[in-house]
Amino acid sequence: MKFLFTDSARHLKRLFVNRGVDMAAYESFEFSDGELGYRLEQDVKRQTCSIIASVGPDPRSLFDILAVHRLLRENGAHECLLVLTYLGYARQDRRTESGEAAIGIMVAEILRNMNTAKIFGFDLHSDPIRKSLGPNFIELSALDLLAKAINKEEIDMVVAPDEGARHRTARLAKLFDLPLEVGWIEKVRPRRNVAVAKSLHGNVSGKHVLILDDMIDTGGTIEEAVRLVSKSGAMTIRIAATHGIFSGKALDRLSRLPIREIFVTNTLPQKRLPKLQVIDVSTLILESLQQT
Ligand code: R5P
Repeated sequence: MKFLFTDSARHLKRLFVNRGVDMAAYESFEFSDGELGYRLEQDVKRQTCSIIASVGPDPRSLFDILAVHRLLRENGAHECLLVLTYLGYARQDRRTESGEAAIGIMVAEILRNMNTAKIFGFDLHSDPIRKSLGPNFIELSALDLLAKAINKEEIDMVVAPDEGARHRTARLAKLFDLPLEVGWIEKVRPRRNVAVAKSLHGNVSGKHVLILDDMIDTGGTIEEAVRLVSKSGAMTIRIAATHGIFSGKALDRLSRLPIREIFVTNTLPQKRLPKLQVIDVSTLILESLQQT
């Protein structure tokens, strides 16, 4: 199997090279008007190829995936697998205001229509997105890795920072193999990019609490959750999420909160920071590809 990394996942390339996998490279170039071109630098005839990529906010990341897949098809690859370490636009899985459209579903359908043999994705945001990726979609989860990395003796309770995270939180609590309490927070979004935690369900008083989400973007959801959990008497607070987006000043924002540790994975590139524990997903990707 040959591996190709689009720019959005190039931070993982070295980890794969270190494991001795067979790489294939492509170059991208620009015409004078800014139009993009792509060219394979290796022969892929009759090979199974895996594209490792993520869909970020810049639509070019999606275009890169489509173009690399096209390179593989037109240059005789036998089969193509797509691994999406992070699938952006997924929060737009429905219209929230009139006049909008479900752009996240559109992105998922574009990926599905590539007709790769399989699409892998990590801890997706919601069921509508999962379904839109079609029958060849396989969901990978970082929850096992998070559960192994977090010292379970330091956790009494797991809290979901919004209703959408409740199911995921209950799954993580089970993985700890302890009778952990599970709580959740009612969150509202008065406007885009602003989160407000309204009320906490569950008693966190005197407890070591872990707050789990699928992604941390502006940090607003976590900031609000920490504020409420701390005010309600939690002894210590830890945070875990699969995808650390940390846009804008999110990391500054989080660094001012009473948080012991933040656990995220490297589905997206991460900075080295004192409280940030980054868990590597590359072995899980490789094992999952080998099992197909
Ligand atoms: C929302 O439904 C998601 O699960 C996350 O809670 C959200 O995207 C986090 O965004 P932010 O960090 O900007 O509050």
